[in-house]
Amino acid sequence: MIPAIKKSTDQAKWKRAEDLNLIDNEATGLIVQQSLKLQGQVAISGAKNAVLVIMASLILCDGKSILRNVPASTDVLHMISVLEFLGATVFFDMENHILQVDSSSINSYTVDMELMKKMRASVLVAGPLLVRFGRADIALPGGCSIGPRPIDFHLKNFARMGIEIKVEGDYVHAFAKKCVPTKIVLEYPSVGATENILMTATLTKGKTIIVNASLEPEVIDLIAVLKKMGAHIHIENPATIEIEGVSSLKPIDHTVMMDRLEVGGLLLASAITGGNIYLPEAQANHLEVFLEKLTEMGHSITCEMPRGIRLKATLSPKAVSFRTAPFPGFPTDLQAPMIAALALAEGDSIVHETVFENRFLHIRELQKMGAQIEVNGDRARIRGVERLYGTSVIASDIRASCALVLAGLAAQGSTTIIGIHHWRRGYENLENKLKALGAKISLKTSN
Ligand code: UD1
Repeated sequence: MIPAIKKSTDQAKWKRAEDLNLIDNEATGLIVQQSLKLQGQVAISGAKNAVLVIMASLILCDGKSILRNVPASTDVLHMISVLEFLGATVFFDMENHILQVDSSSINSYTVDMELMKKMRASVLVAGPLLVRFGRADIALPGGCSIGPRPIDFHLKNFARMGIEIKVEGDYVHAFAKKCVPTKIVLEYPSVGATENILMTATLTKGKTIIVNASLEPEVIDLIAVLKKMGAHIHIENPATIEIEGVSSLKPIDHTVMMDRLEVGGLLLASAITGGNIYLPEAQANHLEVFLEKLTEMGHSITCEMPRGIRLKATLSPKAVSFRTAPFPGFPTDLQAPMIAALALAEGDSIVHETVFENRFLHIRELQKMGAQIEVNGDRARIRGVERLYGTSVIASDIRASCALVLAGLAAQGSTTIIGIHHWRRGYENLENKLKALGAKISLKTSN
C-alpha cells in the first residue's frame, strides 16, 4: 500500500511533462565571473543517474508509484516523455521534487526514435518492456561526444536470457516468448547493462546471476527500489548480484539518493576558489577515492557519519594523479571537474581515463583559458599554472559543462560557456546553489 501522497494544495503545481519548461529559451550560455572563496552551506539534489533508471523500473509494475527528491533536470523531463509515450500517466511537482507515475496504462513496447536519440539512458526501458510485453522496439542510442558508447553488453546478455535480437538500421527489435534465468558474466561492470539485466531478471522465473556487476551507489539505489517492489535480490562478493525471479511487482514510494556528482562539483567549486563549504547531506562513502585525492591536494576534508562533508580549501593546492575506475574507484563523471582544479595546482598531474575513450573534450576548452595540458591517448598530463583567463568556451557534455564553470569561477575576468543544455540536462539549478555560495554567474541571452 502506498502512503497517500501529500498533494500540494496548489493543484497547478502538479504538471504533465508537456507543460513543463525547464529551458530558458532565451539563454544560450552561462557567464561566469571570477568569484573567489566560495563559502557556505547548500542542499544537494537527487541523483539524475539514479532517478532515470528508477523511472524506467516503474514499467515493471502496475499502479501508482511516488518518487521523491527528483531533480528537475531536462534528462528527467525526457524520461517523463518516454514513460508518457509508452502510455504511463506522469505528474511532476517540480517545486517539491515529487514525481507520481501511474504505470497501469502503459500499453506500448515501442519508443519513439526521436525520444531515444535525445538521451542514452532511454535504453534502460528495454529490459522492463521485454518482461512486461515479451517485446521491446528501441532505437540504437548511438555515440555521443564522450565516445561511441555501444550497447553490445546489453544485447549480448539479453540474448543469453533467451531474448531474440534483430537489429534493423537504427532500430533494435527484441522478442522473448519467455526470458530464461542464467549466469551472466559481464566482461566490464557496465552500469547500464547491469541495470537492464537486473530489471529483466526480477520478473524472470528462476535464478539469474550477474558476475562482475556494477555496484555503483546508483545501482544500489535501484536495487533498493526493486526490493521495495517485492523483488528478491542478493549481493554477493565479489561484485555478484543474484536475482530470484518473482511473478509480479508492486508500486512503490521511494526517496531518490543524493547526487554524489553534484557533491563532487560543489566541493571542487569551493576548492578551486580557495573557499570553505559544508554539505550536510553528502555521503562520504559514495566518494572515498575522490575525497582522498582532494586531501592529497592539501584541502582539509571533514566527514561526518552517516552524512555531512566539509571542505576547507588550501590556497596552494598540489598536483595529484589518478585513474578513473568503476565504483569505488575515482568516478569518470568527476574527471573533467577535477582536471579543472588540477589546472591550477602546483606541479604535474597525470590523469588516466579508463572508462570512456573520448572523455577529454573539455581539455581543449581549458587550454583556451590558459591551462597547460597535454593529451596522449587516454592519458592527460596537467602542468599547473598560476592563473586561468576567462574567454568563450564550449561545453560538449554534462560533466564538461561543470568543469568549465569551475574554471570560470577561478579564472581572471569573465568566461562565457556555450552549451547550456548540457548543464541543464545534468543539474537542477546548480548555478543558483553556486550563487548562494558567492559565485557570480548569469545567463547569457542571444541578444
Ligand atoms: C552510466 C552513467 C554515466 C557514467 C557511466 C560510468 C547513467 C545514466 N549514466 O553510463 O554518467 O559516466 O555510467 O560510470 O547512469 N560499454 C560497452 N558496451 C555496452 C555498455 C557499455 O562497450 O554495452 C562501455 C562504454 O562505452 C564505456 C564503459 O563500457 O566505455 C562504461 O559504460 P557504462 O558503465 O555502461 O555507462 P552508462 O551506463 O552508459
